[in-house]
Amino acid sequence: MPQYHFPIESKLPHVGTTIFTVMSRLAAEHNAINLSQGFPEFDCAKELRDLVTKYINSGLNQYPPMAGVPRLREAIAAKVESLYGATYDPELEVTVVPGATHGIFTAITTLIRPGDEVILFEPAYDSYAPSVLVNGGVPVFVQLKYPDYSVDWEQVRQAITSKTRMIIINTPHNPTGSVLSAADLRSLENMLMGTNVVVVSDEVYEHIIFDGHRHESVARYPGLAERSFVVSSFGKTYHVTGWKMGYVLAPKELMAEFRKVHQFNVFVANGPIQHALAEFMQNKDAYLSLPAFYQRKRDFFLEAVKGSRFKPLPSSGTFFQNLAYDAISEEQDTDLAIRLTKEYKVASIPVSAFYRDPPAHKVLRFCFAKSDETLARGAEIICRV
Ligand SMILES: Cc1ncc(COP(=O)(O)O)c(C=O)c1O
Repeated sequence: MPQYHFPIESKLPHVGTTIFTVMSRLAAEHNAINLSQGFPEFDCAKELRDLVTKYINSGLNQYPPMAGVPRLREAIAAKVESLYGATYDPELEVTVVPGATHGIFTAITTLIRPGDEVILFEPAYDSYAPSVLVNGGVPVFVQLKYPDYSVDWEQVRQAITSKTRMIIINTPHNPTGSVLSAADLRSLENMLMGTNVVVVSDEVYEHIIFDGHRHESVARYPGLAERSFVVSSFGKTYHVTGWKMGYVLAPKELMAEFRKVHQFNVFVANGPIQHALAEFMQNKDAYLSLPAFYQRKRDFFLEAVKGSRFKPLPSSGTFFQNLAYDAISEEQDTDLAIRLTKEYKVASIPVSAFYRDPPAHKVLRFCFAKSDETLARGAEIICRV
């Protein structure tokens, strides 16, 4: 085995194996019900699998155009226009990427130079801060308010400096299930007016939103759309997280720069899958029925944990339900998550994993994108804790 003998000055010295890998591995070792990592336990539509097979067999197996297959970009632009009333030019303002994480990384790399500040809300999806740091940027954290994880816009205002180049928002929000309201988006729009701050809006759960809430895409707000990269993921919408397919929307000036980086980072996303998605997207029901599908799962899980000593926090979107355990234990959330996996055989994610300096909240995140049987078995254990 070859060995490298020189010192390595890590660009990400504090990054180790993620808690998601740790908990999933622990769940497998201890034969635990795995409600930790966020991916569906069920398969995607057969029709979608058949379409991918069809396009592979029809010989569309070489590089597609750099920005994405035109018919898919057209389908995305048409969908965004019909849902959010915003017009994006498929030729210049829509790019298909290999997953939302790639899209977010590329948007950050496109703009962030050493010393630039990027405002992030904590708890935060784990890719944001490392993507900023690897580009020499400085993450500036604003904490969401516990227990509803809402935004304190006054704190955001105070966090903005002459070095602020970007702000990353995420609605519906992982790991908390909170959603931004129209008033939130208007606050952000007003606050950024006259600045050169760019927004990266992570909207991968745009179709997983409950209780009649409307998804507040930045695309709906002209003052935000003109300064935003909107990022979405087919993985979440069509139960195909392993395909790593997503897209980014931005005004053509921003998108031209984005594509310069995308071109030399990955060049293209998977071709035959793009053709399949373009055809499958004609069936609007597949995404319009998603809120009801996941709301039923959330409610099934909530009903099943009703008798437990855990206290559910509000989940208005995503496929995560957070449970507070103040009434159960003084342990830190990571210790409890590990103990529950080993002793009780149910795996979750400690919410502290989504913070740089975790507060002392006692909250575990459970994923309900699972079969009813798995949810019932997991909930039965939760009720015994
Ligand atoms: C908030 C958020 N953004 C982005 C992603 C990643 O999406 P993709 O798999 O398309 O890269 C996830 C996946 O868990 C997520 O929760």
